[in-house]
Amino acid sequence: MGMTIRLIFRTGIGMPAIGPALIRYLFRSSNDAGQPMHRDMVVDRATCAGSEILTKGSLLMTNVTRTSTSHYEVQKKRRAQFIEDWRNNRQTVIRLEDVDMQPTDRGLISGGYIGPDADRPTRTMDAAVHEIPPGVTSSIHRHSWDAMMYCVGGSGWTEIDGVRINWAPGDCLHLPAWAWHRHGNEGDSTSRYMSFSSEPFIEILGFAILEDGGNTSVAELPGRPPFTSAMAGNDPYARRVRRLASEQEARRSGRLHTSWDELQFLQTPRGTRTTFLLDRATGYQASGITMAMFEIGPGRQQSMHRHPGEAWLYVVEGKGHSFLGTEPDKGENHPWKKGDLIIVDHFLWHQHINDDPENSAKVVRIHMFDTVLETMRALCDPLVLFEEPPDHIRNAQAGDINTIVWPEVRRPTWP
Ligand SMILES: [Fe+2]
Ligand SMILES: [Fe+2]
Repeated sequence: MGMTIRLIFRTGIGMPAIGPALIRYLFRSSNDAGQPMHRDMVVDRATCAGSEILTKGSLLMTNVTRTSTSHYEVQKKRRAQFIEDWRNNRQTVIRLEDVDMQPTDRGLISGGYIGPDADRPTRTMDAAVHEIPPGVTSSIHRHSWDAMMYCVGGSGWTEIDGVRINWAPGDCLHLPAWAWHRHGNEGDSTSRYMSFSSEPFIEILGFAILEDGGNTSVAELPGRPPFTSAMAGNDPYARRVRRLASEQEARRSGRLHTSWDELQFLQTPRGTRTTFLLDRATGYQASGITMAMFEIGPGRQQSMHRHPGEAWLYVVEGKGHSFLGTEPDKGENHPWKKGDLIIVDHFLWHQHINDDPENSAKVVRIHMFDTVLETMRALCDPLVLFEEPPDHIRNAQAGDINTIVWPEVRRPTWP
């Protein structure tokens, strides 16, 4: 944009005896379309010879002047606003009744728990629930982000790049980025699964793409994006080609399914017993999204701790409440029940309590640790990623773990 600039006046700010430290210039200018524009610039005498630069009438002035809207002020304001917006966006428990189930073009009935499409914005992941009516096969689609499925009711199948996997409640699956997938239900009751995806994070990076294949068979659809697998040489380009090829080969050979029957729960010092569902520790190649399950014994609780959000807990079985607070003794209790999603947001201190004296509570914990949080830790060292009280307080909160009476492990049910 071309611009004509005319100096209108200048005023001094500072000590009159030694001359102004800062000189303010007000310009009246016009752009190519002849529209009037105003510019207000402050020149810091300590850093530039303002008058010399001004007589040149050059845009070089912007390199050496301090204005009320420099990169510094713009960035500072933008960052403060960003933090303020996200603090106002704090979520606690999303109840099953808050989820609006709607029929979709895919043939599934879907509802959003959290994420941009559920009007509860997130930065890294989203959470949704889907039902497949009996006899329905969904359309096929693929996308540039990956997703985890946790099956909660009925039975069904999911086809991933042409490989069909049968599932039942308690099973989990990984839908890799760019893999064509569709779902079906050949049973006589509705099947239901949760999905947790990395879409918001991939969208922030500008790489979120979705392709709907309708009812086309996978054989007629293009495969995942091709890649160059080998190149000789030790130059940076050849090294990159080989490195990315081996990375992609590993990514495309990750595990896709864990059956409920394979799970092994192990007791922890925090008063719970836990198992990985979908994690790099169990052979999955995800974008950093990970799922584990933990179980709180009848009438028991998990010890208090905190870590960065977005960490979510989907309540598979049971009822209880969670303490969420900015300090260990400054917060509120939030009740939850089967089908709710507990949002542990923004580094809050939290503790999950099972209110049922007879039955255990089971929750699926979802977050994006391996990529986003590890990167934050590397870049912001020191940055606390997990904090809990000293062992003696933790142990007192967890109670004597040897006195927990664990029920027999059974597949989840729905409803
Ligand atoms: Fe999908
Ligand atoms: Fe936690």
